[in-house]
Amino acid sequence: MRKHIVAGNWKLNNTLDQGLALASEIANMVADEVTNGTEVVLGTPYIHLAAVQKLTQKTANIHIAAQDCSTHESGAYTGEVSAAMVASTGAGYVIIGHSERREYHNESDEMLATKINMALKNSLTPIFCCGESLQIRESGTHENYVCQQITESLFHLSANEFKNLVIAYEPIWAIGTGKTASAQQAQDMHKAIRNHIAGKLGNAIADTIPILYGGSCKPTNAQELFAQPDIDGGLIGGASLKSRDFVDIVKSF
Ligand code: PGA
Repeated sequence: MRKHIVAGNWKLNNTLDQGLALASEIANMVADEVTNGTEVVLGTPYIHLAAVQKLTQKTANIHIAAQDCSTHESGAYTGEVSAAMVASTGAGYVIIGHSERREYHNESDEMLATKINMALKNSLTPIFCCGESLQIRESGTHENYVCQQITESLFHLSANEFKNLVIAYEPIWAIGTGKTASAQQAQDMHKAIRNHIAGKLGNAIADTIPILYGGSCKPTNAQELFAQPDIDGGLIGGASLKSRDFVDIVKSF
């Protein structure tokens, strides 16, 4: 059975105190409630990573993620944070290629391939984001488009490297819009992604890769989404900022 993962993406929200309060509420709920072994990931701003890691390290199944990392290892790159620095906080994951980074920071497929290499080299699990705009969805080319994103940024990896990835499918038209992909639309894309990976690396690898859905996932729709055979969890933005909502999503399997 594939790992179930529910990852929160706090984006540009929460001061350090607010982030610690949120993480502490989530950790208490995860410790006290039945979560069926679902892995919980908190994607915090860089400056929160070490403190949130320290606060949650004793709670089983909680891990910390950065929301990005640099393409560079070190040097004169003001404002950048390297994968090694992220790993040194105790974080186990890093989100790579979120559509907001692709759009607002012009992150190309090629740049994302480098970030993936940096993450893997530093033993971080990348959560690689892919997804199409509304225009591409309406033109009917969405499956090709997303598979191409995966080819460009991930298909240089060996099978052994690929096994360490998590993929998040996030249709851009569903992010923060309150408009969710239907469970069937999400399942169809997840299946297409898995088939694409199988075509390159075989079923044995494709069947082990967790593929998360992201885009207005909430306690009210998580259960239906997570019941799909190729949906292994969620990448949660807005609803990850409220402890009760987030943990209810965690408990949706
Ligand atoms: P949302 O964001 O849950 O607020 O739609 C998801 C994401 O961007 O990761």
